[in-house]
Amino acid sequence: MLVTSRSYAEYEAMFDLTQLPESVLDCCAGGSSFTAEATDRGVDAVAVDPAYELATPELVDTVRRSLPAGSGIVDAHQGSFVWHWYGTPERRDEMRIESADRFLQDIMTAPERYVAGGLPELPFDDRRFELVLCSHLLFTWADTFDRAWHLAGLRELVRVSSSEVRVFPLVQQGAGDPVPFLPEILDDLDGITWEIRKVPYEFQAGADEMLVISRT
Ligand SMILES: C[S@@+](CC[C@H](N)C(=O)[O-])C[C@H]1O[C@@H](n2cnc3c(N)ncnc32)[C@H](O)[C@@H]1O
Repeated sequence: MLVTSRSYAEYEAMFDLTQLPESVLDCCAGGSSFTAEATDRGVDAVAVDPAYELATPELVDTVRRSLPAGSGIVDAHQGSFVWHWYGTPERRDEMRIESADRFLQDIMTAPERYVAGGLPELPFDDRRFELVLCSHLLFTWADTFDRAWHLAGLRELVRVSSSEVRVFPLVQQGAGDPVPFLPEILDDLDGITWEIRKVPYEFQAGADEMLVISRT
């Protein structure tokens, strides 16, 4: 799996973020600069990802190798992507490179913000974060992780949130095929309040919705 580096601007659009709460978890943060940039905005932001177990040279190498490989997926499924949000492939590449650089700088200077761990068991207390974001893990990798894993993962994201969980996108990687078990997973979330909400971001054609789970 790629350890990709989406930026704050991409997260802002993918999750339709207007104002950030006091604390945010980016679960499956990979090489994203979201945590660094949210910290700049005064937020208690934490990133969690199994890749943070890697020693620094391996992590740097993995993040760097995920940059061109990310474009490779797009090249392999050209008709499945739209460009109105990024404008051009060059702009998207630029954003990824800037984000990777920012992430690598931040993890070196503030390693306490970057926690090694992964779903379905996160090393955080119940309700630790007001908002929990999950970009391009759940549903994206539905060909790798099964329905039971997804359900356990969602429940774990809910456990560590005190207010809201947002997940984007709701389609699989590459051609953006639908996730066959998504309706069943949503049915399984009995007792939990959720909605599917449109967002002002689209890259995989038609993937412009996020799952929002609210905790009461
Ligand atoms: C495609 S990247 C997404 C990174 C970032 N969120 C972004 O949007 O650019 C997927 C990330 O999920 C991480 N990952 C893999 N298995 C995981 C798990 N069980 N729990 C949390 N993260 C996991 C990978 O290490 C990788 O960094």
